[in-house]
Formats: sequence, C-alpha cells, structure tokens
Amino acid sequence: MLATAQHAWAGVREDLDAAIARDPATSGRVEMALASPGLHALWSHRVAHRMWRHGGALRLPARLLSQLCRAATGVEIHPGAQIGRRFFIDHGMGVVIGETAEIGDDVMLYHGVTLGGRSMARVKRHPTVRDGATLGAGARVLGPVTIGVGAQIGANAVVVKDVPDGAVATGVPARIRLPAAQVDPGEALYDEPALWI
Ligand SMILES: CC(C)(COP(=O)(O)OP(=O)(O)OC[C@H]1O[C@@H](n2cnc3c(N)ncnc32)[C@H](O)[C@@H]1OP(=O)(O)O)[C@@H](O)C(=O)NCCC(=O)NCCS
Repeated sequence: MLATAQHAWAGVREDLDAAIARDPATSGRVEMALASPGLHALWSHRVAHRMWRHGGALRLPARLLSQLCRAATGVEIHPGAQIGRRFFIDHGMGVVIGETAEIGDDVMLYHGVTLGGRSMARVKRHPTVRDGATLGAGARVLGPVTIGVGAQIGANAVVVKDVPDGAVATGVPARIRLPAAQVDPGEALYDEPALWI
C-alpha cells in the first residue's frame, strides 16, 4: 500500500516537473498542481484509462469520468487513449484525443490540438505521436498517421500524412520540412530557387 502511494507520488512529481520545465509562466509545483488544467486532465485520464483497461462494468464510469474532466478542463481524452510519461498540455482548452491514439513520452500539446480519426471503422484510426514531439496550438492530426520522434507540428497545421523524426510540419495541408541532416543536397537545389540565380 505504502509502495503504491510512493509510486503514485513519484509519478505526480515527475508530471509536475515536466510541466514546469515547459511552462515559463509558472512559479513552482504548488501553482502548477492547482492551476494547470492540462495536468488535471492528465491525472484524471490516468485513472479513467486504468478503469477502461479493466474493462467490463468499469468502462461506463471511465467514460463518465472522462466527460466530467472535459466539463472541468475543456480537454477531452477518450479513456482508451494510451499516453506515456511526462506528457503536458499547456492551457488545455479544446484538446481532443481519440480512443486509439497512442502518445509516447515527453510529448507536449498546446490548446486546441485534435488527435482525431478519419474513419468510422472500429480499428486503429487515431494518430501515434512518438517521444518528444510538440504539437502547436490548434493543430489537427487526423487518421492513423505517425508523428515522429521530436517532430514539431506548427500552430493550426492540418496533418494527414506521417511526419518523420525531427521534421517540422506547418500549414494546411501540412508541408514537411526535414531536419537539415536529412535533406538531400540535390533536392535542396530544387527547393531553393535563389540558388539557381
Ligand atoms: C512550426 C514551428 C514549430 C516552427 O518553428 P521554427 O522551426 O522556429 O520556424 P521559423 O520560425 O524559423 O519559421 C520557418 C518558416 O515557417 C513559417 N511558419 C512558422 N510557424 C508556422 C505555422 N504555425 N504555420 C505556417 N507557417 C509557419 C514561418 O513563417 C517561416 O516561413 P518562411 O521560411 O517562409 O519565412 C512554430 O512556428 C510553431 O508554430 N510552434 C507552435 C507554438 C504554439 O503553438 N504556441 C502556442 C503558445 S500559447
């Protein structure tokens, strides 16, 4: 029992420290714990997800907890969504994360992000977001696409294709800028017309 409580507290501290590291507008753990809707949504999701995985009669209460959290924070996370460690949502409001979404460690979302589906079939239909990716305010990532390790999705981008590790995706539909190390020098000549002058 004591070990479980210690483990839970260690997880909470890790979430708090990860949030503080990404939010320069906060003064410390107490303020973050009391005033971050993103963390409240995450902690509520951790409970709802355990209930969901238990299955059976706990699935309905899991959905209700998720809806209660949505009413309180503006963040809607389906209890089936899988979320890794040190996840942070800054500002919270307007985030929607679908049932089959998978999110790695150290991922950050701003308000208004949608990890949504494009199909009504009961299959994997929501995005996979790998470790260390950041999704800007209002970004929509739709379908079972993969956002690579450390990728950045620009504010208000609409992404319907995979984004490679370390790439930056902006615009509607999103255009992908690869990390400099992966750019083929030959291709770069075509991308930058000024080099031909
Ligand atoms: C996408 C993003 C990560 C790019 O950052 P960056 O790599 O430093 O990019 P730069 O600022 O050097 O911009 C590179 C180009 O992308 C464009 N760009 C940057 N962000 C863009 C966006 N969200 N949508 C469309 N174009 C964008 C710039 O205008 C610039 O265009 P140019 O080459 O024609 O001049 C960043 O701009 C972004 O959108 N971050 C999200 C932040 C956020 O949501 N904050 C909310 C706080 S409440």
